[in-house]
Amino acid sequence: MDIIVRDSYNEMSKCAAKIIARLVKSKPDCVLGLATGSTPIGTYQELARMHKEEGLDFSQVKTFNLDEYYGTGIDLAKPYNLDQSYARFMHEELLKHINIKKENIHIPDGLTKEPEKFCIWYEEAIKKAGGIDLQLLGIGGDGHWAFNEPGSSLASRTRIQALTQQTLDDNYESFYQKAGIERAHMPHFAITMGIGTILEAKNILMIANGVKKAAVVAKCLEGPITSQITASAIQLHSGGITVVLDQDAASKLNGLDHYMHIEKLKQDYGFC
Ligand code: PGA
Repeated sequence: MDIIVRDSYNEMSKCAAKIIARLVKSKPDCVLGLATGSTPIGTYQELARMHKEEGLDFSQVKTFNLDEYYGTGIDLAKPYNLDQSYARFMHEELLKHINIKKENIHIPDGLTKEPEKFCIWYEEAIKKAGGIDLQLLGIGGDGHWAFNEPGSSLASRTRIQALTQQTLDDNYESFYQKAGIERAHMPHFAITMGIGTILEAKNILMIANGVKKAAVVAKCLEGPITSQITASAIQLHSGGITVVLDQDAASKLNGLDHYMHIEKLKQDYGFC
């Protein structure tokens, strides 16, 4: 596991974008797993800048998003307007700024009438695309990956999940309050890739920032693997794992000095 610590949110975002851009350049038809939330916004801004100023080409890239709210509170009929769907978020924060083809974008359908069938289809679509080359992930305040809330099986697959009170509170604070939406109108369910689905990605890139995430990041990376912190499944992943943190999010890691030493050694010897 490569743990990289950067001075600020901005530097964390640039580092994550660089890792994604490296893959897009080396494999132009790569499959990216994408995440929503406040954490990846800077990464997406940097990727959009790279596209605009450096010609980073997304024309053959396919994307699969981790999750989408299910039911109440989203309106996919107007996904690019002021609704709170993740489809809208992805469009506003990244997709409308790059040259990705519409048919290559996959985001769970939060209004499907047949969620079980849809979830099976989503898993098959990922397989048909050749699997996810690099999955970008944040981490929730309750330790979740995507909407795999505490208690989700570490072998879980794409499915509907009920959101915890903590996730509802976090989402309210980050997004809904600003949009003037009442708590009662927030979605309480989501369609989410499972932990088992995420672990099949060939590479994992997890990012986190801010002191609010420090304790959960330490539990995820250094604590026991547990379904109470579903992101702790990162310790089970068999492919390339990179974790990029800002100093605040890294501040409660017991092994911080060790991780920084390893990163410096790799830089000095030209391994990264
Ligand atoms: P955040 O959410 O980026 O808004 O903190 C992260 C997550 O829930 O995965």
